Amino acid sequence: MGFWSRKMAREWDDRADKNAPLYIYTDEKFEEEFDEDFFFKSGQQDVDQTLAAMHVHPKPDWRVLDIGCGIGRLTRRLDQLAGEAIGVDVSAGMVQKAGQFNPGITFQQISGVDLKLFPDNHFDFVFSFIVFQHLPRTSLVMGYLEEIERVLKPSGITVFQMKTSFHPAWKRAYWNWRRPKHRDMDRNSSTFVGCETRVGAIQEKARQLGMVTDMVLYEGSYRTYFRLSKGDPDKIKVNLDNLLNP
Ligand SMILES: C[S@@+](CC[C@H](N)C(=O)[O-])C[C@H]1O[C@@H](n2cnc3c(N)ncnc32)[C@H](O)[C@@H]1O
Repeated sequence: MGFWSRKMAREWDDRADKNAPLYIYTDEKFEEEFDEDFFFKSGQQDVDQTLAAMHVHPKPDWRVLDIGCGIGRLTRRLDQLAGEAIGVDVSAGMVQKAGQFNPGITFQQISGVDLKLFPDNHFDFVFSFIVFQHLPRTSLVMGYLEEIERVLKPSGITVFQMKTSFHPAWKRAYWNWRRPKHRDMDRNSSTFVGCETRVGAIQEKARQLGMVTDMVLYEGSYRTYFRLSKGDPDKIKVNLDNLLNP
């Protein structure tokens, strides 16, 4: 295991141990107490709103992967919508708690840099929300894109969220350096602050992988959403059918 795998696993394990819901949802109310009902309802809302905005309509025979599942806030909803949803996370602590909160759903720990647990052409849909924004290097996001392309079925699609910016790398690095520090030092670590990139860099990577960027929402913000399909023109047609005839 490499440096980043170990650092991400260790630091997210600490967060899982201290207060998993707080570091997942970053709502100060979880500093006081854990409102389980509110927490999982927020997951349902996030999944439903994101899928609606990105025109994804899960089918009951879909196999879905949730990357960076935390304690299963979103996996639970994805599992309700599709035939099967599997949650994976770099933190063993998160995975263990996810299993406790969501009996019957499969959660597995991964290295944080690949999806080696899964064979090629395995998933209909890969989802990731508020995870890539925490990855300390853009190269780790690019590595995940390669893996997502590999594990998706030929007609598969992915929707993920990350931070993007219109500004050049030097300006982003400068602002990041000037950024006021959070009182919780844990949130100042590179594994929490994460990276941001330009939308064009993701589109270029998708193109190199033979994927098509179907949609980009909210470019230049911390909540930029991408929808990519694994695609030659025939596959794009499948996805277009899905868009037009949910
Ligand atoms: C803010 S939480 C979001 C959890 C979940 N997606 C949700 O919205 O409820 C970020 C999660 O990503 C996981 N994570 C961080 N880096 C990761 C990586 N490189 N690979 C997989 N999971 C990662 C953390 O352990 C944590 O559970």
